[in-house]
Amino acid sequence: MQLIDGKHIALTIQHELALEVQRRVAAGKHRPHLAAVLVGNDGGSVTYVNAKVAACERIGYRSTLIRLEDTVTEAALLEQVQRLNENAEIDGFIVQLPLPKHIDAQKVIEAIDPRKDVDGFHPVNVGRMALNLPCFLPATPYGILQLLERCQIKTTGKHCVVIGRSHIVGSPVSMLLARNAEPGNCTVTLCHSRTQNLAEITRTADIIVAALGIPHFLKADMVKEGAVVIDVGTTRVAAPETKSGFRLHGDVDFVNVAPKCSWITPVPGGVGPMTITGLLQNTLLAAQWK
Ligand code: GUN
Repeated sequence: MQLIDGKHIALTIQHELALEVQRRVAAGKHRPHLAAVLVGNDGGSVTYVNAKVAACERIGYRSTLIRLEDTVTEAALLEQVQRLNENAEIDGFIVQLPLPKHIDAQKVIEAIDPRKDVDGFHPVNVGRMALNLPCFLPATPYGILQLLERCQIKTTGKHCVVIGRSHIVGSPVSMLLARNAEPGNCTVTLCHSRTQNLAEITRTADIIVAALGIPHFLKADMVKEGAVVIDVGTTRVAAPETKSGFRLHGDVDFVNVAPKCSWITPVPGGVGPMTITGLLQNTLLAAQWK
């Protein structure tokens, strides 16, 4: 079994991005500038957004964090999005999800200028991705592709089973792995909460992407010998003995599944760090495309 070291791969790519920023600036071009809008104080969202802003600063990007109260109206948030669309100093921006219940997240996503939508969530970018046209790929699926690529894991002709059909991970990752590209060219089965005989299907998989958000869901008897397992789960489980007060639990029963795998991502330190990297890569693309 080999561990897919997402932390190391993410740092390597971020180092490459930092060098590219230096080259850009030396050539008289502007530093890529990412803005993030954070509504409210949800613990997970605050941590993720702070990590995104810190990563920007580490590699020489400009970053702007806009914090809004969780009582902000939908109209006020849409105005903020419009200001960011029109701000020529900002290359790309994200609105951290989830949003409070009184705000229609889809309406907010559709208000973002697709050329600045570095999350790749706008229907224009989703459609362009489906058509294999240049676009911003959603950060987590983009990160998963790069883990496979950097570990030289061959995907062509393999059976990939994706568990979970979210718009952020499961659905796009299934499209990307089915594309005529490398990584890609997989025969993809997209499983979800209504799938029957799930274990029978996962046992036929060469590659499993677990993205359903249920801690330790994927058990050893659901995995065939030699499979590649990508664990996208990051459920926070209370752990009073730790400094943060919680531990991240993946969707995979790692201790029992890992010995059967050819490759597996750990949690933490697998897919998680690659999500920020994907966002940073998209932000550089936004600056280059401007
Ligand atoms: N919430 C969970 N993942 C993401 C992400 O990739 N982007 C945004 N904007 N919100 C998220």
